Order: sequence, then structure tokens, then C-alpha cells
Amino acid sequence: MLRRLHAEQPDTFAFTPANQAWAEAQITKYPEGRQASAIIPLLWRAQEQEGWLTRPAIEAIADMLDLAYIRALEVASFYFMFQLQPVGSVAHIQVCGTTSCMICGAEDLVAVCKDKIAAKSHQLSADGKFSWEEVECLGSCANAPMAQIGKDYYEDLTAARMGEIIDELAAGQVPTPGPQNGRYAAEPLSGLTTLKDADSGRTKYNASVQLATDIGDTVKRIDGTEVPLLAPWGKANENVAPSGDMMPPDSRAGKQGGRVASAKPAAIAAKGKSRPEGDRVASKPANSPVATGPGTKPATLDAARAGGPDNLKMIKGVGPKLETLLHRLGFYHFDQIAAWSGDEIAWVDQNLEGFKGRVSRDNWVTQATALAAGEETEFSKRAKKEGTYKK
Ligand code: FES
Repeated sequence: MLRRLHAEQPDTFAFTPANQAWAEAQITKYPEGRQASAIIPLLWRAQEQEGWLTRPAIEAIADMLDLAYIRALEVASFYFMFQLQPVGSVAHIQVCGTTSCMICGAEDLVAVCKDKIAAKSHQLSADGKFSWEEVECLGSCANAPMAQIGKDYYEDLTAARMGEIIDELAAGQVPTPGPQNGRYAAEPLSGLTTLKDADSGRTKYNASVQLATDIGDTVKRIDGTEVPLLAPWGKANENVAPSGDMMPPDSRAGKQGGRVASAKPAAIAAKGKSRPEGDRVASKPANSPVATGPGTKPATLDAARAGGPDNLKMIKGVGPKLETLLHRLGFYHFDQIAAWSGDEIAWVDQNLEGFKGRVSRDNWVTQATALAAGEETEFSKRAKKEGTYKK
């Protein structure tokens, strides 16, 4: 299937305050310079919040992770779990159409979806509440046929039960997920043949369904207040505080008041205190993001020389955000970077707020030396060929 951005897009995207705090916490899972690894959870949370992935959402997340927009779009368009078009406001129904489910009646389930929702997959129902699609095996083949609705699996379905489930959802109810034919899990239809006393002390539902009903977010749009925001990869069980003025400390307990006003993610604002691209600074600007630390500050320029700045993004490891930061620090040209001594590298490494250590890690001086001499590096050749970073 051709997966591309939907023709109609909203103007902006912003995480809710609690989702913003959650997203910032996710980014802290990864070591410095590897924040791009948070792309899938952040895209997923945006989809959980909005129902589908909009272009502004993809771009806002790319900004948070200092990624070129095309890189984030590549991820969003590759994985079928990301919906690139609007879905039903109540539920998007994903009917498994692979072998086991097909043999056991998936076509009948699709027929119900066509009848009750829309003739074609990915079309919205007339009231906008539902949409549906056929998907590949969801790994619940022993409970075929089945469908994923929102976050949960509805298994052992019949056409009649599928119709009832849609009606119940339309009426504002959330049917209990899991097997719909009385089975507890995936035991034989005739009942257990071994481990027969295994049901003593078991929960009302199997583990997946029990968790689903306990959390109760099967078809809910996630605003981030659903579960405590924990960052166990940091200080044990420490709640991650939202950044800056994003929201008061107690707002995760349900006191949120609307969305973050700016489409600009707080993580970026906090990291780089970004000013408009092209701002020129003196060699020791009063509002430089940082201007201290070990090492020796290299010579800087108040502005780019005649002819404009070099495209510093041709240096592997320098993205648009880092280039802006370098400009603010007074670095515009390859030959400036090529001339840094070890002491000067130490100073710059320490003063790349949010990107500390990148100069050494990516060997900028060697790259800049080649680029200043008019040569290409492997990275610059590839970036130019792919049009990754235009000037
Ligand atoms: S074939 Fe449907 S879940 Fe595997």
C-alpha cells in the first residue's frame, strides 16, 4: 500500500502538557547524541493523543530529536502501526486477515465493517466515529478470528459479535476485550486437558484482558494523565518533572488546562533557547547560551564573512539545531573549525549545550579540514546526493 501524508493537515501540533513531560522523559533514556532513538515512542504517543499522525506532529517530534524531517517521515511511513490519515473518533478497527483468521471467518468480520462503517478500509463512517482496515497477523492466531480495536484484542469473534461490539462502542461503552466466546485465554475449546487446577486463584480475566480492563484505555485518546510518569532508568522511581513552565507539578493528577501554547517543543526551547536562524552575535555575546568551562575559547566572528556561512551541516553530527548553536557561538566557516586546537576543542565540546562532546565524538576538525580545502567527506557526498541538508 502506498503510504503518504494525508492531503488535509492541521496547522499545528502540540503534545498535551503531561504528554510533553512524558516525551521529554523518554528522551532521557538514551545517551547523549542518541536521542533520535526515541522516535518511535514519541510518534506513537502523538498518535495515541490525536488518533493519527499528522505532518505537524511528525515535524514537531523531529525538532525535539534534532532530526531532519525526512528521517522522521521515513519512520512514520514505514511502520503500518502509524496511521497517516484520520481515523474514527471513537475507534479504528484492525481486522486480522491472515491465514488462521481468514480460515476462521475474517471475511465475515470485514463484511460487518463494510456494512456498519464504510465500504472501503481507511474511510471514516458517516458519523466520523469509526474506521477500519485489514491487517496482517497480530499474533493471536489461536484465538482466530480476531481484531485489534484501539489498544486491545477482541478474539474468537463472530460476525454477530463484531456488529454488537461496534454498536456498544458507538453507544459509549467499551466491551471487555479478549476472547468473546467464553474462553479464558487460548485453552482448548473443550476445556483444559492439563494443569487443570491452574485456575485456582486466577484473576477474573486472563493477564492481558485484566490489565486492559484495569487500565481502561482501550479506545481512549491518551493525554498523559493515565499513569504516573516514572523514569526508572534515571533515579529509581523518580517522577520526571515537566520542563520549565509547561505545567504545574500536580497537573498530572488531572489538573491540566489545555495544551502547550506553542507548537515549539519545550525540550528545544529549554535546550537551545533558540532564536531566529541568522541571528548574529559578537565574539563574546551577552546572550550566548554558554560561555564558560574548561579549555580555551577559540577565535570567533561577529557574523559570517561575505558570501555567507558555510553549510556546517555537511559535517557529520551537525544538524540544523547544532548549526544554529554554532552560529550563536560565533562559528560560521569550515576553516574556523579546522583551526581548533585540542584546548579549543575541549572548550567547544563543553559549550555545546545539549550536544556536549560532539566535536570529539564526530571528529569535526578532520571533517572541517577536508571541507575547508574544497574536498568532500563520505558524509558530505552522501548528504549532497540525498539532499539531506540543504543550505
Ligand atoms: S492469523 Fe490472525 S492473529 Fe494470526
